[in-house]
Amino acid sequence: MNSPSTTIKKDKVVVVSGAGLSAPSGLSTFRDNNGLWRTYRFEDVASPNAWKKQPQVVLEFYNERRAKAADATPNAGHLAIAALEREFEVVVITQNVDDLHERAGSTKVIHLHGELSKARSTEDESLVYEIGAKPIALGDHCEKGSQLRPHIVWFGEEVKLIDTAADELADAGRVLVVGTSLKVYPAAGLCSVAHDEALKYYVDLDAKRKVEGFEVIQGSADVILPELLKTWTR
Ligand code: APR
Repeated sequence: MNSPSTTIKKDKVVVVSGAGLSAPSGLSTFRDNNGLWRTYRFEDVASPNAWKKQPQVVLEFYNERRAKAADATPNAGHLAIAALEREFEVVVITQNVDDLHERAGSTKVIHLHGELSKARSTEDESLVYEIGAKPIALGDHCEKGSQLRPHIVWFGEEVKLIDTAADELADAGRVLVVGTSLKVYPAAGLCSVAHDEALKYYVDLDAKRKVEGFEVIQGSADVILPELLKTWTR
């Protein structure tokens, strides 16, 4: 529950987004019928153990996703979120590793699960490099001579930005959760951090899902968000 001392900021919007927001841009989700985890086992491509056992397979998995993300364009859902910044303080907390929020114009984006467009040293995690759409190959080294890895939070690794995200969410006057199955913690736990008095919306294709305290709006993010967010602006 919220600490009674937290007062909400009426003009602050926090968005929590998942793969469903990028689906209309042509990027795969994880748990839908044609999702990534239907094709791959995440233990084989998105875990420290996979990196130890088969780094080439892991690199290829992310090189392919990085190229697809670079080819994708932000959809009307991303653009509607970015447009909110004309009238609100907006913080985007995303589970997505693409940069479609940034390319749509959002200026404050917290990537809980990392970013495809960055690589980092395996020896010193503070060494992070912008690589855009470029692939990472075995033998690509950081300035200290260690192998580069995707700047992604793998299963079993710490989500270092979760407290920052929760702090941003706690005083938001409006919370919009969009395109996420809410199956992966700690990200999924953010819904319970939202203030009782905040306006809370959950937008998703799956009409069956219920989220305590949230108004559930069923539909595709690129259709629902422009209509919904237009009603928020004067
Ligand atoms: N509009 C809105 N929602 C959509 C759309 C769409 N066009 N298409 C799919 N969805 C919804 C699905 O109904 C589902 O609820 O998006 C959600 C996608 O769920 P997941 O595939 O589980 O993706 P996500 O919730 O982002 O996964 C969280 O799991 O594997 C990890 O690191 C990975 O960040 C990812 C995390």
